[in-house]
Amino acid sequence: MIGRNDFCWCGSGDKWKKCHYPEENTSVVDEYHKRYGIIIKDAEQIEGIRASCRLAAEILDKTCSRAVAGVTTLELNDYAHKLHLDAGAIPAPLNYSSPPYPKSICTSINEVICHGIPDGTVLNDGDIVNIDVTCILEGYYGDCSRMVVVGGKTTEERQRVVDVSYECLMRSIDIIKPGALISDIGAVIEEYATSQGCSVVYQFVGHGVGVGFHEAPEIQHCSNDNDIPLVSGMTFTIEPMINAGKAEGIVDTEDHWTVKTCDGMASGQWEHTILVTDDGYEILTL
Ligand code: MF3
Ligand code: CO
Ligand code: CO
Repeated sequence: MIGRNDFCWCGSGDKWKKCHYPEENTSVVDEYHKRYGIIIKDAEQIEGIRASCRLAAEILDKTCSRAVAGVTTLELNDYAHKLHLDAGAIPAPLNYSSPPYPKSICTSINEVICHGIPDGTVLNDGDIVNIDVTCILEGYYGDCSRMVVVGGKTTEERQRVVDVSYECLMRSIDIIKPGALISDIGAVIEEYATSQGCSVVYQFVGHGVGVGFHEAPEIQHCSNDNDIPLVSGMTFTIEPMINAGKAEGIVDTEDHWTVKTCDGMASGQWEHTILVTDDGYEILTL
């Protein structure tokens, strides 16, 4: 018989009284919240998040189809902004964090890794651009991004990061099921990216999402030791940023948002919001 002050049977290394002691009535929902700060969503929350994710994907789709040569990133922003308002939604990036993010979407071109701020920059044929949309609908968040190859053709280097980042996202989604570990995601991504001669950005991560913009847990995209098991009802993003050259990103010292590769080489990123289901996963932002 184990005592309250003995190590818990689950192997956590905590005392039984602080861990799986029955008085605590540790349902998985309570335990994940208490131990990790992770919000496991109930059926009502999942419905709300599903609707928000559907809208985010639709806004992203429409905005991407306008990403052609001659268009400015500000025009894409203003179009996406209006689509949010028309749907009764709020663009989550606008005024987010500190310094407040000044626009409604992120547009990251070529060597920009993430958080590019829409402005008067004109898209040219051969540019690659990541468009990232996060909307708030009825209080629920949906977050997704995609790459567009402007004009359909680009350089070998740029095409490589577009394709490898997409493949990293889809391969890592495919292992999602209850019992898989958070670290399995980064392992799949790093393994594939490096096999293709690319590097994985380690300074920015995927994240729990749904009732907040950036919830626990962090989803690292490089190999890591986060051994939290996935459970049904978790909602989070995977959003690997993959570089053709060095992994390191540099944050712009003037706007404090734009992140560029340290060597000027290309970077690609795709993002989905995922729900862990009883037998696998659902991509909410398809
Ligand atoms: N949508 C981004 C993400 O995937 C976050 C952008 S933060 C912003 O997490 F403020 F720049 F919009
Ligand atoms: Co995200
Ligand atoms: Co995003």
